[in-house]
Amino acid sequence: MNSNILIEARRHEEIMDQMLADEPRPAFHLPARVGWMNDPNGFSYYKGQYHLFYQYNPYRAQWGPMHWAHAVSDDLLHWHCLPAALAPDTLIDRDGCFSGSAVELPDGRQLLMYTGVVNERQPDNTNVEYQTQCVAIGDGINYEKYEHNPVISAADLPEGASVHDFRDPKIWREPDGTYRVVIGSRPADGSGQILLYSSPDAFHWKFESILAKNRNRYGLMWECPDFFELDGKHVLLTSPQDMLPEGFEYHNGNGTLCIIGHYDEKTKTLVEDANQSVDYGIDFYAMQTLLAPDGRRIMIAWMQNWDSLAIAARHTPWFGEMTLPREIHIKNNRLYQWPIRELETLRRNKVEYHDVDFTGDLTLPGVRGVKADITVALRPGDAENIYKKFAVRFRQKGAQHTAISFRPYEGILKIDRKFSGTRRAILHQRRCLVPNSGNGEITFRMILDQFSVEVFVNDGTQTLTATMYIDSDADGISFFADGQVRMDIEKYDLEV
Ligand code: FRU
Repeated sequence: MNSNILIEARRHEEIMDQMLADEPRPAFHLPARVGWMNDPNGFSYYKGQYHLFYQYNPYRAQWGPMHWAHAVSDDLLHWHCLPAALAPDTLIDRDGCFSGSAVELPDGRQLLMYTGVVNERQPDNTNVEYQTQCVAIGDGINYEKYEHNPVISAADLPEGASVHDFRDPKIWREPDGTYRVVIGSRPADGSGQILLYSSPDAFHWKFESILAKNRNRYGLMWECPDFFELDGKHVLLTSPQDMLPEGFEYHNGNGTLCIIGHYDEKTKTLVEDANQSVDYGIDFYAMQTLLAPDGRRIMIAWMQNWDSLAIAARHTPWFGEMTLPREIHIKNNRLYQWPIRELETLRRNKVEYHDVDFTGDLTLPGVRGVKADITVALRPGDAENIYKKFAVRFRQKGAQHTAISFRPYEGILKIDRKFSGTRRAILHQRRCLVPNSGNGEITFRMILDQFSVEVFVNDGTQTLTATMYIDSDADGISFFADGQVRMDIEKYDLEV
């Protein structure tokens, strides 16, 4: 039986669908159906389709009472909205159904595991939040919350772990049919840790170990963990709050962290070999992965960041979208990302240039567009005298544009949306150090959609993601070189 709160949310969605019909929307990135979107949740393959749920406030384009929205897709590019899946409608989640994940049960039903939030009013009128883990079981459209929720609560926490910061379960099924879940937690040292639990049936859980400890190294609380095996390594993805920069590797505020290592069966801990940022751009947070039927590990993230939300002051009826799903790999203890190969089916109107030698400003016939897949390969036009700077400006209209620039002598690739039309004093630039690029050779692929750019550097060793809110007709693309650049361009329109 659906609650009145869920029925109301579903009714609201249907009414708003009509009102939003003429709003400019991304073409192949999933936006909030209406209202507000944050983290991807329950990213899974179920009953022959990809399912993606997300943190959702249907009523306002701002964070609020968290529901789970729901969409399905055959190819991860064309999305079809289904009715909201969860609403904050029981005693144990009345103040929010926070982030979580999905798994298929042996009987064919789908289980959603999420964090139930309850706020308790204190004598001084402040609220204290309590977080527990809950499940709901369904058929891919309707989900019934388990009557004995929560399935993991304060009593199951290791010593010193906070009852206020205990969230974002990522569940999976082991080959022997038992289940595991990793959950973000805050120990007594005030930073973050990831807890590991096991269960024979996904309903009865036992604490196993502290899989990984932050020890105040990478930000404070670790949110939205994901843990899996990939290319012979074990990988922990998490989104730390309150980070400090480390050279060019991490940036201030809400960031992303990938720890690569191996899982020690004896201690049930992750032994770390290497760590890095997941994305080096501006708008990327709370990534989650799924294992596709063909064996690909595919990652998606919220294409936004808590620290730059002032960009939301646009008074639109919706806010928030997901990144492009990305195929990920581990090579030489580094994370590699690449747009899902399905994207290539949207390519139209190929335009190609080889060995374009230029200095100063340049435009190329046929190279323009709003939704486009563009690969730029650069090398010095004069090997003795490497160029000082290269820039490509896109989503250009009059003085407005967004730019990617590269300075070989610094090895710095920069994304800059300062001139994209934003009227807010938020972060507009971010830089990334590209290893071995001092010789002026670099290749990057840019995926442009209505409100975003995602840059994949070289073979996917680094990515930079950013949103920009600019008019639909800003389709100019131009190049600039300080010094002699030789460039190849391959450009396609992307059509859904
Ligand atoms: C991360 C997060 C999660 C939480 C959710 C609430 O962006 O803070 O930790 O579950 O958002 O919407």
